[in-house]
Amino acid sequence: MAAKDTKDISPEHVAIIMDGNGRWATARGRPRLFGHQAGARRVREIVEACPELGVRYLTIFAFSTENWKRTQTEVAGLMALFRRYIEKEAKRLLKHGVRVRFIGDRLRLDAKLVKLMDDLEVLTSHNDLVHLTIALNYGGRDEVARATKRLARDVASGKLSPDDVDEETLPRYLDTCLLPDPDLVIRTSGEARISNFLLWQSAYSEYEFIDTLWPDFTAEIFAQTIGRFGLRERRYGAVAV
Ligand code: FPP
Repeated sequence: MAAKDTKDISPEHVAIIMDGNGRWATARGRPRLFGHQAGARRVREIVEACPELGVRYLTIFAFSTENWKRTQTEVAGLMALFRRYIEKEAKRLLKHGVRVRFIGDRLRLDAKLVKLMDDLEVLTSHNDLVHLTIALNYGGRDEVARATKRLARDVASGKLSPDDVDEETLPRYLDTCLLPDPDLVIRTSGEARISNFLLWQSAYSEYEFIDTLWPDFTAEIFAQTIGRFGLRERRYGAVAV
Protein backbone atom coordinates (compact mmCIF):
# COMPACT_ATOMS: atom_id res chain seq x y z
CA MET A 1 0.00 0.00 0.00
CA ALA A 2 1.32 3.46 -0.85
CA ALA A 3 2.41 5.62 2.08
CA LYS A 4 -0.26 8.12 3.05
CA ASP A 5 0.50 11.66 1.93
CA THR A 6 0.80 13.99 4.95
CA LYS A 7 -1.77 16.23 3.27
CA ASP A 8 -4.37 13.41 3.52
CA ILE A 9 -4.12 13.39 7.29
CA SER A 10 -3.47 17.07 7.89
CA PRO A 11 -6.13 19.20 9.51
CA GLU A 12 -7.68 21.37 6.82
CA HIS A 13 -8.44 24.14 9.31
CA VAL A 14 -6.27 24.94 12.33
CA ALA A 15 -7.26 27.62 14.84
CA ILE A 16 -4.76 28.99 17.36
CA ILE A 17 -5.12 30.80 20.68
CA MET A 18 -1.76 32.59 20.77
CA ASP A 19 -1.23 32.81 24.51
CA GLY A 20 1.82 33.64 26.61
CA ASN A 21 3.23 36.86 25.12
CA GLY A 22 2.97 38.70 28.44
CA ARG A 23 4.72 35.98 30.46
CA TRP A 24 7.41 35.69 27.78
CA ALA A 25 8.19 39.41 28.11
CA THR A 26 7.98 39.47 31.91
CA ALA A 27 10.44 36.57 32.12
CA ARG A 28 12.88 38.81 30.23
CA GLY A 29 12.22 41.84 32.42
CA ARG A 30 10.57 43.64 29.48
CA PRO A 31 7.16 45.32 29.07
CA ARG A 32 4.28 43.13 27.88
CA LEU A 33 4.24 44.84 24.50
CA PHE A 34 7.71 43.47 23.82
CA GLY A 35 6.13 39.99 24.03
CA HIS A 36 3.33 40.96 21.63
CA GLN A 37 5.91 42.21 19.13
CA ALA A 38 7.76 38.89 19.32
CA GLY A 39 4.37 37.15 18.95
CA ALA A 40 3.63 39.11 15.79
CA ARG A 41 6.92 37.93 14.24
CA ARG A 42 5.92 34.34 15.02
CA VAL A 43 2.63 34.79 13.14
CA ARG A 44 4.54 35.21 9.88
CA GLU A 45 6.52 32.01 10.40
CA ILE A 46 3.42 29.95 11.24
CA VAL A 47 1.38 31.31 8.30
CA GLU A 48 4.19 30.53 5.88
CA ALA A 49 4.55 26.98 7.24
CA CYS A 50 0.92 26.13 6.37
CA PRO A 51 1.17 25.08 2.70
CA GLU A 52 3.94 22.56 3.39
CA LEU A 53 1.91 21.07 6.26
CA GLY A 54 -1.27 20.80 4.22
CA VAL A 55 -3.11 23.40 6.32
CA ARG A 56 -5.41 25.42 4.07
CA TYR A 57 -7.24 27.47 6.71
CA LEU A 58 -5.55 29.12 9.67
CA THR A 59 -7.51 31.19 12.17
CA ILE A 60 -5.68 33.12 14.87
CA PHE A 61 -7.02 34.84 17.99
CA ALA A 62 -5.41 38.29 18.04
CA PHE A 63 -7.72 40.28 20.34
CA SER A 64 -10.78 39.17 22.27
CA THR A 65 -13.86 41.14 23.28
CA GLU A 66 -12.53 40.73 26.85
CA ASN A 67 -9.06 42.12 26.06
CA TRP A 68 -10.37 45.71 26.35
CA LYS A 69 -10.08 45.19 30.13
CA ARG A 70 -6.28 45.38 29.86
CA THR A 71 -4.46 48.65 30.60
CA GLN A 72 -4.93 51.49 28.16
CA THR A 73 -1.20 51.29 27.32
CA GLU A 74 -1.41 47.63 26.39
CA VAL A 75 -4.63 48.01 24.37
CA ALA A 76 -3.26 51.03 22.45
CA GLY A 77 0.03 49.20 21.89
CA LEU A 78 -1.75 46.14 20.52
CA MET A 79 -3.92 48.25 18.18
CA ALA A 80 -0.81 50.02 16.87
CA LEU A 81 0.82 46.62 16.40
CA PHE A 82 -2.13 45.36 14.35
CA ARG A 83 -1.96 48.48 12.15
CA ARG A 84 1.77 48.07 11.62
CA TYR A 85 1.40 44.34 10.95
CA ILE A 86 -1.12 44.99 8.16
CA GLU A 87 0.94 47.80 6.62
CA LYS A 88 4.18 45.82 6.81
CA GLU A 89 2.92 42.37 5.83
CA ALA A 90 0.36 43.18 3.12
CA LYS A 91 2.72 42.73 0.15
CA ARG A 92 4.30 39.61 1.56
CA LEU A 93 0.92 38.00 2.30
CA LEU A 94 -0.19 38.78 -1.24
CA LYS A 95 2.99 37.24 -2.68
CA HIS A 96 2.68 34.11 -0.57
CA GLY A 97 -0.85 33.34 -1.79
CA VAL A 98 -2.50 34.19 1.53
CA ARG A 99 -6.11 35.35 1.55
CA VAL A 100 -6.79 37.36 4.69
CA ARG A 101 -10.15 37.75 6.41
CA PHE A 102 -11.03 39.32 9.74
CA ILE A 103 -13.72 38.12 12.11
CA GLY A 104 -15.08 39.91 15.17
CA ASP A 105 -17.04 43.09 15.78
CA ARG A 106 -15.47 45.99 13.87
CA LEU A 107 -17.74 48.63 15.40
CA ARG A 108 -15.52 49.27 18.42
CA LEU A 109 -12.31 49.40 16.39
CA ASP A 110 -10.57 52.56 15.25
CA ALA A 111 -11.70 53.68 11.75
CA LYS A 112 -8.11 53.76 10.46
CA LEU A 113 -7.55 50.17 11.52
CA VAL A 114 -10.86 49.06 10.00
CA LYS A 115 -9.89 50.69 6.69
CA LEU A 116 -6.59 48.79 6.68
CA MET A 117 -8.44 45.56 7.44
CA ASP A 118 -10.97 46.14 4.64
CA ASP A 119 -8.22 47.01 2.16
CA LEU A 120 -6.17 43.91 3.04
CA GLU A 121 -9.24 41.70 2.55
CA VAL A 122 -9.82 43.19 -0.89
CA LEU A 123 -6.12 43.11 -1.85
CA THR A 124 -5.77 39.40 -1.06
CA SER A 125 -9.24 38.32 -2.17
CA HIS A 126 -7.96 36.42 -5.22
CA ASN A 127 -5.47 34.34 -3.23
CA ASP A 128 -6.35 30.76 -2.45
CA LEU A 129 -3.27 28.94 -1.10
CA VAL A 130 -3.78 29.74 2.59
CA HIS A 131 -6.89 31.31 4.10
CA LEU A 132 -5.75 33.31 7.11
CA THR A 133 -8.51 34.56 9.39
CA ILE A 134 -7.57 37.04 12.10
CA ALA A 135 -9.99 37.27 15.02
CA LEU A 136 -9.91 40.88 16.19
CA ASN A 137 -12.33 42.14 18.82
CA TYR A 138 -13.77 38.65 18.60
CA GLY A 139 -15.74 36.70 21.18
CA GLY A 140 -17.66 33.49 20.49
CA ARG A 141 -20.71 34.53 22.51
CA ASP A 142 -20.68 38.00 20.99
CA GLU A 143 -20.54 36.45 17.51
CA VAL A 144 -23.53 34.16 18.24
CA ALA A 145 -25.46 37.13 19.69
CA ARG A 146 -24.71 39.30 16.62
CA ALA A 147 -25.65 36.41 14.30
CA THR A 148 -28.91 35.86 16.18
CA LYS A 149 -29.77 39.54 15.87
CA ARG A 150 -29.31 39.38 12.08
CA LEU A 151 -31.29 36.14 11.88
CA ALA A 152 -34.10 37.66 13.98
CA ARG A 153 -34.25 40.62 11.59
CA ASP A 154 -34.67 38.22 8.65
CA VAL A 155 -37.46 36.42 10.52
CA ALA A 156 -39.15 39.73 11.38
CA SER A 157 -39.01 40.87 7.75
CA GLY A 158 -40.41 37.55 6.51
CA LYS A 159 -37.22 36.55 4.68
CA LEU A 160 -36.79 33.52 6.92
CA SER A 161 -39.40 31.29 8.54
CA PRO A 162 -38.84 30.32 12.22
CA ASP A 163 -39.43 26.70 11.14
CA ASP A 164 -36.39 26.90 8.89
CA VAL A 165 -34.00 27.84 11.72
CA ASP A 166 -31.74 24.85 12.37
CA GLU A 167 -28.06 23.86 12.68
CA GLU A 168 -27.52 24.65 9.01
CA THR A 169 -29.18 28.06 9.06
CA LEU A 170 -27.58 29.71 12.09
CA PRO A 171 -23.92 29.30 10.98
CA ARG A 172 -24.75 31.21 7.79
CA TYR A 173 -25.11 34.29 10.00
CA LEU A 174 -21.81 33.78 11.83
CA ASP A 175 -18.65 35.77 10.97
CA THR A 176 -17.14 32.45 9.86
CA CYS A 177 -19.88 31.68 7.32
CA LEU A 178 -17.31 31.21 4.54
CA LEU A 179 -15.00 28.91 6.53
CA PRO A 180 -15.09 25.21 7.34
CA ASP A 181 -15.19 24.33 11.06
CA PRO A 182 -11.73 24.00 12.64
CA ASP A 183 -10.39 20.44 12.77
CA LEU A 184 -7.77 21.33 15.36
CA VAL A 185 -7.60 24.10 17.96
CA ILE A 186 -4.18 24.79 19.48
CA ARG A 187 -3.61 26.88 22.60
CA THR A 188 -0.08 27.77 23.63
CA SER A 189 1.32 28.65 27.08
CA GLY A 190 0.01 25.68 29.07
CA GLU A 191 -3.45 27.06 29.85
CA ALA A 192 -6.28 24.59 29.12
CA ARG A 193 -9.21 26.91 28.37
CA ILE A 194 -11.04 27.92 25.21
CA SER A 195 -11.64 31.53 26.32
CA ASN A 196 -14.71 32.24 24.18
CA PHE A 197 -12.97 31.25 20.90
CA LEU A 198 -15.03 29.75 18.05
CA LEU A 199 -17.60 28.29 20.46
CA TRP A 200 -20.10 27.13 17.85
CA GLN A 201 -17.50 26.11 15.27
CA SER A 202 -15.31 23.95 17.53
CA ALA A 203 -18.05 21.54 18.62
CA TYR A 204 -16.10 18.61 17.12
CA SER A 205 -12.59 20.05 16.99
CA GLU A 206 -9.61 18.27 18.44
CA TYR A 207 -7.68 20.29 21.03
CA GLU A 208 -3.96 20.57 21.69
CA PHE A 209 -2.76 22.49 24.73
CA ILE A 210 0.95 23.18 24.31
CA ASP A 211 3.22 24.33 27.15
CA THR A 212 5.34 26.60 24.92
CA LEU A 213 4.67 30.36 25.15
CA TRP A 214 3.48 31.82 21.82
CA PRO A 215 6.69 33.80 20.99
CA ASP A 216 8.61 30.48 21.27
CA PHE A 217 6.11 28.48 19.16
CA THR A 218 8.27 27.65 16.14
CA ALA A 219 7.28 26.18 12.78
CA GLU A 220 8.93 22.97 13.99
CA ILE A 221 6.67 22.72 17.07
CA PHE A 222 3.71 23.55 14.80
CA ALA A 223 4.70 20.69 12.45
CA GLN A 224 4.96 18.26 15.39
CA THR A 225 1.50 19.30 16.60
CA ILE A 226 0.03 18.81 13.13
CA GLY A 227 1.77 15.41 12.96
CA ARG A 228 0.02 14.28 16.17
CA PHE A 229 -3.34 15.25 14.67
CA GLY A 230 -2.89 12.56 12.01
CA LEU A 231 -2.80 9.91 14.74
CA ARG A 232 -6.15 10.88 16.21
CA GLU A 233 -9.38 9.06 15.44
CA ARG A 234 -12.32 11.39 14.96
CA ARG A 235 -15.72 9.81 15.46
CA TYR A 236 -18.11 12.78 15.58
CA GLY A 237 -20.19 10.98 18.21
CA ALA A 238 -20.36 7.72 16.25
CA VAL A 239 -18.76 4.38 17.14
CA ALA A 240 -15.44 3.35 15.60
CA VAL A 241 -15.79 0.78 12.78
C1 FPP B 1 -2.24 36.54 24.63
O1 FPP B 1 -1.06 36.57 25.40
C2 FPP B 1 -2.05 37.30 23.43
C3 FPP B 1 -2.79 38.36 23.03
C4 FPP B 1 -3.94 38.90 23.77
C5 FPP B 1 -2.47 39.07 21.79
C6 FPP B 1 -2.13 38.21 20.61
C7 FPP B 1 -1.40 39.07 19.70
C8 FPP B 1 -0.29 38.72 19.03
C9 FPP B 1 0.30 37.39 18.96
C10 FPP B 1 0.40 39.81 18.35
C11 FPP B 1 0.22 40.04 16.95
C12 FPP B 1 -0.88 39.43 16.20
C13 FPP B 1 -1.07 39.75 14.92
C14 FPP B 1 -2.17 39.20 14.14
C15 FPP B 1 -0.16 40.69 14.25
P1 FPP B 1 -1.13 37.26 26.82
O2 FPP B 1 -0.79 38.67 26.66
O3 FPP B 1 -2.46 36.99 27.45
O4 FPP B 1 0.00 36.51 27.59
P2 FPP B 1 0.02 36.15 29.13
O5 FPP B 1 -1.10 35.16 29.35
O6 FPP B 1 1.37 35.54 29.30
O7 FPP B 1 -0.15 37.42 29.89
